[in-house]
Amino acid sequence: VVVRPARWADDGPRCAAIVRGLPDYFTDNVPAEVERDGAAHPAWVVEAGIGVIGFAIVERRSDSVAEVLWIAVDAVHRGRGAGLRLLGHVLTELSRDGVRVVEAKTLAPTSDYAPYVATRAFWQRMGFIHLDTVDPYPGWKPGNPCAIYVAPL
Ligand SMILES: CC(C)(COP(=O)(O)OP(=O)(O)OC[C@H]1O[C@@H](n2cnc3c(N)ncnc32)[C@H](O)[C@@H]1OP(=O)(O)O)[C@@H](O)C(=O)NCCC(=O)NCCS
Repeated sequence: VVVRPARWADDGPRCAAIVRGLPDYFTDNVPAEVERDGAAHPAWVVEAGIGVIGFAIVERRSDSVAEVLWIAVDAVHRGRGAGLRLLGHVLTELSRDGVRVVEAKTLAPTSDYAPYVATRAFWQRMGFIHLDTVDPYPGWKPGNPCAIYVAPL
């Protein structure tokens, strides 16, 4: 398993396909948003022998702050350490580049939606702390309380 910077013109369609393969996590509008965000912001992919199995897109907010806009691992490859390798690599690179705090937004535990239990466990495992819940979150559909996570690097 190798993590490398994305070459978005080549990797974007595959990353959008990974998103389409996770319908419990991402609504129909997300593949297009991912394609757009990956073209505009730094992105990394994680590759196994068969090709790209996951990706992360990061928006730099300032010299010291970044947000993980999107992260996903192909449905059949989830739960085998690829996400940990991918995000660990990204956080190390951000830290080397001067980033001190990283934000991530996800579905809050008050939502009662089972798939995101694992997602929140992932953020916590990666050192992220649930700082706040915003409900409703501007731009998010009603019924989707937003958990703000932050990780100090
Ligand atoms: C979240 C995601 C990127 C994590 O990638 P992954 O390759 O599945 O995760 P890993 O196998 O590297 O697991 C890393 C840690 O996350 C946690 N975790 C992962 N899957 C879990 C599960 N099903 N239940 C509980 N904890 C889980 C564990 O703490 C694990 O560490 P451990 O193996 O030392 O116990 C991936 O599962 C995914 O694409 N999920 C759907 C999309 C999504 O939720 N994206 C984020 C939106 S905010």
